[in-house]
Amino acid sequence: MASSLNKLRISTKLLQNSNYFETIPQRFGSSWFTHVEMGPPDAILGITEAYKKDTNPKKINLGVGAYRDDNGNPFVLPSVLAADRQVCDACLNKEYAPISGTPEFCKAAIKLALGDDSKALDRVATVQSISGTGALRIGNAFFSKFFKSKDLYMPTPTWGNHVPLATHSLLTPKQYKYYNPNNCSLDFAGLCENLSQLPEHSLVLLHACAHNPTGVDPNLEQWKELSQLIKKKKLFPYFDMAYQGFASGDIVKDAAAVRLFINDGHLIALCQSFAKNMGLYGERVGAFSIVGESPEEAARILSQLKILIRPMYSNPPIHGARIVTTILTDKKLYQQWLGDVKTMADRIINCREQLKSNLKKIGSKHNWDHITDQIGMFCYTGMKPDQVERLTKDYSIYLTKDGRISMAGVTSKNVEYLANAMHEVTK
Ligand code: LMR
Repeated sequence: MASSLNKLRISTKLLQNSNYFETIPQRFGSSWFTHVEMGPPDAILGITEAYKKDTNPKKINLGVGAYRDDNGNPFVLPSVLAADRQVCDACLNKEYAPISGTPEFCKAAIKLALGDDSKALDRVATVQSISGTGALRIGNAFFSKFFKSKDLYMPTPTWGNHVPLATHSLLTPKQYKYYNPNNCSLDFAGLCENLSQLPEHSLVLLHACAHNPTGVDPNLEQWKELSQLIKKKKLFPYFDMAYQGFASGDIVKDAAAVRLFINDGHLIALCQSFAKNMGLYGERVGAFSIVGESPEEAARILSQLKILIRPMYSNPPIHGARIVTTILTDKKLYQQWLGDVKTMADRIINCREQLKSNLKKIGSKHNWDHITDQIGMFCYTGMKPDQVERLTKDYSIYLTKDGRISMAGVTSKNVEYLANAMHEVTK
């Protein structure tokens, strides 16, 4: 009892020191909350709110990374529809899932990442999470409690939510070099130099594939070098894999970095999301895993993950996880799903080509090769904040301030309008 009180005092102190709770004034006037200021909209999800309010029929939402079909509509994957029907027809009960999610889901999810024959499968602790964000939330909470260093190193730039996700778990977000804005590609030398200077036993967040927001990934040879460097420097690789399948259209190819690290003998942490590759955005299905040294270590880790999850949300939602499990364990549906992923990835690749060729056709003198060189859901255009502002103000084209466009929002119908607008603001 005394020891748990002590622990509580320590964590409260940590929260206070981190400015988590600002100094809260006494009650003034009629409300307790007059001191609560209006917060800014979310840098990514806030864009959709602004887009919805716009009445221009030509408006385009290139903000959030959510796949659309060529008519600009949300896409429910045929394999997902079929699995959904199977789940509904089975009339399963609605009991709570275990704290860590169902074992069948966890097993299928981690197999998808590591491969069916991975030797690490018997020493991995996997829990279901509230999509990729929830996986990071669980992972960060675990590292905050059990990892000596509280610094979390992430690429510059990185997904906007990575930073608040770190601070919410009392980790300190730190940066390493990743992207070279001068040539819109990977700054591999800077990346290696920065990683080799990190203190031993640092925690390094890596985007496993289809880097968000830049669409720039290391190639396989570079991943090999990174794996050796990370091993030599005794750093801990913490993978975020939100886009497996979206980079190349091939689930296995996109897992290459994660599998390489496992084959090289690393112990890793891994966040997975089924939002993009199964189009299950609102179902919130993901997984968090740690590959330990032994089955016994994995069991200890799993027990602690459950202790962290219980006060967060008790146990995860069941429906989306049932859909994922059905797809991953039914041979026919699985094959159909691989085709669906490829359909999405191919449409995006095609839109990249169309956007680049339209810019050229209109007469843009800029080098737009990076539109087709970059991969995955996003293109980091290199447009400056004032150019982005003009795109939104003058053309009702919505995107994040850093110039990232979600390629999934580009269609054969709006690509000409988009190219023309991009040309006008970058002249
Ligand atoms: C994005 O980067 O647009 C997606 O990962 C969606 C999100 O939650 O930010």
